[in-house]
Amino acid sequence: MRISVIGCGYLGAVHAACMAKLGHQVVGIDVDERKIADLSAAKAPFYEPGLEALLEEVQETGRLTFTTDMSAASGSSVHFICVGTPQKSGENAADLSYVEAAVRGLLPQLAPGDIIVGKSTVPVGTASRLRGLISEQEPGAHLVWNPEFLREGHAVSDTLQPDRFVYGVSDGSEEHPAVSVLDDVYEVPLQNGTPRLIMDLPTAELVKTAANSFLATKISFINAMAELCEATGADVTRLADAIGMDDRIGRKFLQAGIGFGGGCLPKDIRAFMARAGELGADQALTFLREVDAINMRRRTRVVELTRELFGDGLLGKRITVLGAAFKPESDDVRDSPALSIAAQLQLQGAVVTVTDPKALHNASRRFPELQYVQNTSAAIENSDAILLLTEWPEYRELDPYIVKQSVRTPRILDGRNVLDPSKWRAAGWQYRGLGRP
Ligand code: UGA
Repeated sequence: MRISVIGCGYLGAVHAACMAKLGHQVVGIDVDERKIADLSAAKAPFYEPGLEALLEEVQETGRLTFTTDMSAASGSSVHFICVGTPQKSGENAADLSYVEAAVRGLLPQLAPGDIIVGKSTVPVGTASRLRGLISEQEPGAHLVWNPEFLREGHAVSDTLQPDRFVYGVSDGSEEHPAVSVLDDVYEVPLQNGTPRLIMDLPTAELVKTAANSFLATKISFINAMAELCEATGADVTRLADAIGMDDRIGRKFLQAGIGFGGGCLPKDIRAFMARAGELGADQALTFLREVDAINMRRRTRVVELTRELFGDGLLGKRITVLGAAFKPESDDVRDSPALSIAAQLQLQGAVVTVTDPKALHNASRRFPELQYVQNTSAAIENSDAILLLTEWPEYRELDPYIVKQSVRTPRILDGRNVLDPSKWRAAGWQYRGLGRP
């Protein structure tokens, strides 16, 4: 099939490459010339495991091209909208200007029978408004809302073998003309057993925001338990192991620590609250305000704990922060809890050195006042305290005996609860976890 993918950021670049991998003829379109130049040279504009190899592989087949020219969408029968919906500056609501511009730019290229597939995360009600716009221009085209659930760091496999497909169509029915077209697009994963659910447009939009809100709530729940554990001397990691064994609860996303960040969960729960307010249903989501507050409190708590570790203030203390990305296997620093903690400590007088295997370039653009050192051993040297804030495998595997030789004082704060406290303490370290005695 001939497919266009509008927006080649995280979602779009991975989607375009994966659609070509599935055998389709794909053109990726974006207004950002640098991104298009990179992608055309099979270079991923961000770090995502497996993406560059996939770009190379599919570009060799000639099935994947990239351009800034929207007219290249003409001739494709399926058009994926993959642009970002960031938080509006100074407001909780989502900024829909990129979605709006993508759809308006696409309108002149549409032909009867074309399918426009929305993948961006949008406030409920957006799809039916866009559907109106599309049918004014090309009544023979159809809109489907097909939210994306990929995780950064696992984006390629999440796209090629997703948990489920959600198709939102105007009448919510299997007979809608877009359903069979999308089935053809996803023929391979469907044959491999990925289930698909067909529903109306608002339900499909809500599935995405509800899923992200649930995940954020689960993380904040365990972090609230961590606060209680800290107050009582209990251990949140053992608590999570025990409640997680109940199938109905599950252990995933119960990792207590410095909380969630990134370009999705924080802005999605805020946009959801803002949309509920517009719909007169704000009471239904007031709990998300608490989810957000618990999450932000983790960051302040870590700064307090670091202060406690020293006992005599932060001024002039040399602190090494392990990890800048919002999570491992990513170079994304959007709303990264690790970086926000590093910046706070620096503001309070500490001398902070940040290290990360992939995210230092992005981090230094966001917080140029921090010191960045790529090499872990060099970053740790002469440190008064180490804070493990993003759990990259190489930090989880650090040997406490070896690290101890290069620091000034053996103090470690494990912001993700991934180290074995007894091992570090046995090696002579002052160890602090979050929500652990
Ligand atoms: C999230 C969702 O998991 C995806 O399903 C969704 O498609 C995506 O947002 C999106 O909307 O595009 P992502 O932002 O890549 O994916 O990251 P997650 O793996 O969900 O992690 C989010 C944050 O929660 C990270 O900062 C992570 O460190 C933190 N986290 C996660 C915890 O603090 N504890 C946990 O137990 C799990």
